[in-house]
Amino acid sequence: MCRECPRLGHSDARTDSDHKLVVVMVGLPARGKSYIVKKLKRYLSWLGFQTKIFNVGDRRRLAGSADDYEVSGTGTTTRLERTKSNSGKTAMHNQQQQQQPCADCNKPGTQQHTSTARQGDMQAASCTQCDTRHSSTFFDPDNKKAKQLREQVAMEVFEDLLRWLQAGGQIAIHDATNSTIERRSALINRLRSETDVNLLFVESICTDKNIINRNIRLKTQSPDYVGIDPDVAEADFRARLRNYERAYRPIGTAEEKYDVQYCKIIDVGKKVIAYNIQGFLESQVVFYLMNMNLDPRVIYITRHGESEDNSVGRIGGDTGLSSNGERYAKALARFIDRRRLEFTAEVDEQNHRLEMFMASGTSSGNNSEPESVSSHSSNQSIDYSSLRLKVKPDFEIWTSMLKRTMETVEHFDPQRYRIKNIRSLNEIYAGRCEGMTYEEIATQFPEEFEARQLDKFYYRYPGIGGESYADVVLRLQQVIVELERIRHSVLLVTHRAMARTLLSYFMDIPTTHMPDMELPLGYVYSCEPRPFGNFLRVWRYNPDTDDFDEIDSSTALKIRYPKIMISDRKSPASSAHHDQHNLLPSPAETACSANT
Ligand code: F6P
Repeated sequence: MCRECPRLGHSDARTDSDHKLVVVMVGLPARGKSYIVKKLKRYLSWLGFQTKIFNVGDRRRLAGSADDYEVSGTGTTTRLERTKSNSGKTAMHNQQQQQQPCADCNKPGTQQHTSTARQGDMQAASCTQCDTRHSSTFFDPDNKKAKQLREQVAMEVFEDLLRWLQAGGQIAIHDATNSTIERRSALINRLRSETDVNLLFVESICTDKNIINRNIRLKTQSPDYVGIDPDVAEADFRARLRNYERAYRPIGTAEEKYDVQYCKIIDVGKKVIAYNIQGFLESQVVFYLMNMNLDPRVIYITRHGESEDNSVGRIGGDTGLSSNGERYAKALARFIDRRRLEFTAEVDEQNHRLEMFMASGTSSGNNSEPESVSSHSSNQSIDYSSLRLKVKPDFEIWTSMLKRTMETVEHFDPQRYRIKNIRSLNEIYAGRCEGMTYEEIATQFPEEFEARQLDKFYYRYPGIGGESYADVVLRLQQVIVELERIRHSVLLVTHRAMARTLLSYFMDIPTTHMPDMELPLGYVYSCEPRPFGNFLRVWRYNPDTDDFDEIDSSTALKIRYPKIMISDRKSPASSAHHDQHNLLPSPAETACSANT
């Protein structure tokens, strides 16, 4: 990898340096597009690509209603202007109404989107200050003004996306339904004038009516329906879906004419259709998306028990466990045995809550034709049994091929756990510095030591086989895809740099923070895939009780201040590191909210 420009996507077999990619999402609402988009962004960012999501729904909500805007100009270069007359009307209207703060904009104004709003109120259910709501009529393909506004918002977001790419971004994701041939043609034509930007359409199709019904119910919690009675929201969302279905045309020959690349993800990757995929990056995206699954499971990550080398502060090497490490190994086996039972009970509880949530809806139903679930009648009942999440009985344990991890799993019952030793999980290789303490490195190789402090992610240890964190990410790429594919829980018993790299993928922690995450021995991190991100829980080994205590996960992933020990001069990188302290997203932030 090139030191001058050491992005993972740069040089060699991966891509040429100027390669940029636009991923355009396609699909009806409630088909899991936002789930795919967030996962994809997390993966590509972790691989080292500058990746950004451009969500059209968010912009639409800001744009307000069609009546509030003048559409100025034509084509893709127009902007939306809020009309003065309408803001005047809003102000007058407000004076006559009771002032309440809006949940979205916090400004006092008149809102009808309270929990008492019933069906039929959706039209009026918008905050007069921020205009964030759109009822189903806004999505009627025959509503010309609204349609023009929707097209315009989509193209404006596309312009923002292109500007971001021109300013140095690498992969941009246009998150919208893009469900008509007309819209997709406009995007293709707009992209023609851009050089070095590839296009990939990703269409999400769902044929499982139970999944769609569940997604529809979840949509009642979307920003469009804040404060709206869930039944009113659901009825409106189904009406919106019917409007979309009338205009929807799946990707096909119309796009093939333009020789574009596309892939269709059907039923969360159960079936994948890939058309004309040519770029390296695009094939990585398709391969990644093929390996998704929604089964309930946990990815546990821990470091090995204390090793002989750990106890004297030596890095790398291949020593066995110390007596402390042995105790940890025994306690870990007991803990995971117990957690397996607890997790099954937790999923049962989630099933129960899901059933209650679904049952609270009145218009959900079952229908033989999946693409028309929007028209379900209220007296049809949902098939709960197929919605229930089932925990797979298998459980795998993956270790590195170094003694300290293999010894850490010696107390697991091989009848109940499939144990695999994987070379890719070996610790970062310190080359010429293997087996040294940090103090020895600082004294014997001061320049190396300082260089690493200044740029720990890209710094590569000297000597044959010496690695950087960037190298480690590449080494773990296949491990990540395999973890996404597997449908049961896995415990990874690995090393500090490996645990940092894995956790930064699962918890969407920027690569700039990755090498400085504090991950001491004796902690177990559990990442539970959920629809809107991974849910993190953390346990700490307690030597007094010889057991594990759960700790607050929001404070568990800390950034360590790196110390420049050799030079007193303040480097820009060291102050930048200080600035980054506490910038880690909290688990609540990483498990983001619903989106259209
Ligand atoms: O000290 C334990 C260890 O796993 C070493 O083997 C490894 O070189 C190091 O941690 C990785 O941590 P850092 O990247 O902070 O040096």
